[in-house]
Amino acid sequence: MKPRALITGITGQDGAYLAEHLLERGYEVHGMVRRASTERFERIVHLHDQITLHQADLLDQLSIVNLIREVRPHEVYNLAAQSFVPTSWVQPLLTGEFTALGVTRVLEAIRLVDPSIRFYQASSSEMFGAVREEPQNEQTPFWPRSPYGVAKVYGHWITVNYRESYGIFACSGILFNHESPRRGKEFVTRKVSDAVARIKLGLQEKLRLGNLDAMRDWGFAGDYVRAMWLMLQQDKPGDYVVATGQKHSVRELVELAFSHVGLDWQDHVVVDPQLFRPAEVNTLRGDASKARRVFGWEPAVSFPELVQMMVDADMERVRREIAGQQLQP
Ligand code: GDD
Repeated sequence: MKPRALITGITGQDGAYLAEHLLERGYEVHGMVRRASTERFERIVHLHDQITLHQADLLDQLSIVNLIREVRPHEVYNLAAQSFVPTSWVQPLLTGEFTALGVTRVLEAIRLVDPSIRFYQASSSEMFGAVREEPQNEQTPFWPRSPYGVAKVYGHWITVNYRESYGIFACSGILFNHESPRRGKEFVTRKVSDAVARIKLGLQEKLRLGNLDAMRDWGFAGDYVRAMWLMLQQDKPGDYVVATGQKHSVRELVELAFSHVGLDWQDHVVVDPQLFRPAEVNTLRGDASKARRVFGWEPAVSFPELVQMMVDADMERVRREIAGQQLQP
């Protein structure tokens, strides 16, 4: 019998990579999708005949219970959230509903339907916020700096609590920033790679950015979904930091991305104070030695390789878009 997995947030960057990973491993893959007036399935169109999508919503408890009853998964990966940090200041309550209470709703559904289901919670390095030490590991205290970070802290602890209260095999993956050509264009890496391609190909002149001094531990999303799966294959549940152990500034990211296509970033980047955040996470760098020790996880893609991969992909996409427009009458 095939193992069955249910992914919430399957239409997002990580959902698409995880679905591919699980399909390669012989899983039957189910995805939870929320009805929206504009459907966004571009990251999973190529998988449409291999996965089954179901409508349910993290805000609707009964829809999750019914979904888990219908699918009866062996593993649930909770990747759905309001995941863009700046939006969490504009919609703090909605962020709390999805990103914090949504986790409890999935855990409650598991407890009710079948407590033997294994559960993965997408926790975040944003929980470390104003970092207490460097690098950050599973023991580092949290000090979140946004309503999003606060909501993720709740999601982390409710996962730990359901493990301790009910013996559920619940794991919290504390993932540092992870990027790819499938990243949404609102996040800084993809905003930069998309703008570099558009500037290089003559569609745009300037790129407006916020804090160039912020430092992040950026890895490749395709590497990080392997760690999610590995966590659920262990004998015991636990919490794991997933990171590269290297950090770079937004300025370095910009420099690398522009120079990859032979441009000088200083000719194009404009700092826009409107893009500064009310409270910033200045620096993040993770220590993934527990993941390495317990299940041998290592990232395969380096930061320069990641930046090049993203710029190359956007160059190709923008070129195709331009060619398509020229074909139109
Ligand atoms: N988005 C964005 N846009 N960020 C900018 C910009 C800009 O124009 N200019 C500078 N930055 C800085 C932000 O201030 C932040 O310090 C850094 O770039 C990274 O921003 P994002 O790419 O938006 O990611 P994030 O670190 O806030 O959050 C991401 O990573 C978390 C894990 O640490 C998201 O994926 C979260 O969902 C995730 O939990």
